[in-house]
Amino acid sequence: MTSDAGTTWRELLADTAVLLGNAQDARFVCEHAAGLDAGEFAAALGEPVTQRMGVHVRDMVQRRLAGEPLQYVLGRWAFRHLDLLVDRRVLIPRPETELVAQVALDAARAVQPTRVVVDLGTGSGAIGLSLAHELPLTGTTVWLTDVSGDALDVARANLAGIGRNGANVRVVQGDWFAALPDELRGTVDVVVANPPYIAETDTSIEHVVAAHEPHVALFADDDGLAALRVIVAGARPWLRARGVLVLEIGHGQGAAVRDVLIANEFQNVEIRSDFAGRDRIAVATT
Ligand SMILES: C[S@@+](CC[C@H](N)C(=O)[O-])C[C@H]1O[C@@H](n2cnc3c(N)ncnc32)[C@H](O)[C@@H]1O
Repeated sequence: MTSDAGTTWRELLADTAVLLGNAQDARFVCEHAAGLDAGEFAAALGEPVTQRMGVHVRDMVQRRLAGEPLQYVLGRWAFRHLDLLVDRRVLIPRPETELVAQVALDAARAVQPTRVVVDLGTGSGAIGLSLAHELPLTGTTVWLTDVSGDALDVARANLAGIGRNGANVRVVQGDWFAALPDELRGTVDVVVANPPYIAETDTSIEHVVAAHEPHVALFADDDGLAALRVIVAGARPWLRARGVLVLEIGHGQGAAVRDVLIANEFQNVEIRSDFAGRDRIAVATT
């Protein structure tokens, strides 16, 4: 890969696409190194690449070719309206989780004039920070929890990026509901969680995921249902009457999660699908 004096972004982009075997990844890498968004980068294709930017592209290409996910190489990824810091301390936020956030957002928006939302296992903060960002500044409180202190460091960094609405966010560490202060009992309007739900025995999980993303974010015992069961069983004392529980679930877990919700006396149980038509979201009310 060359980025001699006078090399333009157009030339470096073409070289990078060949090396990565992926034109879109190459564009992300070059835009990131240039510090430009897509529109600005398109306008700068004829500009020369500085030596520092060329080195940055080369470093990212090497990490990508070594197998690291693009999102960790870039150190950031888009989720709904947010541009989140992501690294190997947290799960890479997935497109289907944007739907989970939308369901929680709709439930929280229906609550007036004040609303309390809890995002359990927040990771990068993707769901909870999106809610804090998109819900009204006035009357909203969003709690972010995680068992992982490393993940909460990333969530706090992302919290700094949401501006004024960040004042509505509380960050606490601990095991699911045990992280929350006692005074929240019976007051929460919406609990949302994307817990680990992949079975330890699942051989279909992509190597790049298992090798790079945090184990605690991915895997759960009991065919992947262990964390979902704990959350469902623990949610009722925290939710107010007619409070809403929103869970991301694995495809193929819909029937089992429905049974768990019904066994725990939840009402209005629904299993909704993702973009691919697979079970992805469980919603229920107290
Ligand atoms: C699938 S990731 C979801 C991250 C983020 N909410 C998202 O949707 O991108 C699951 C998260 O749950 C956290 N977690 C795992 N076990 C936990 C526990 N016992 N209590 C709280 N959080 C836990 C992990 O650290 C991880 O951040």
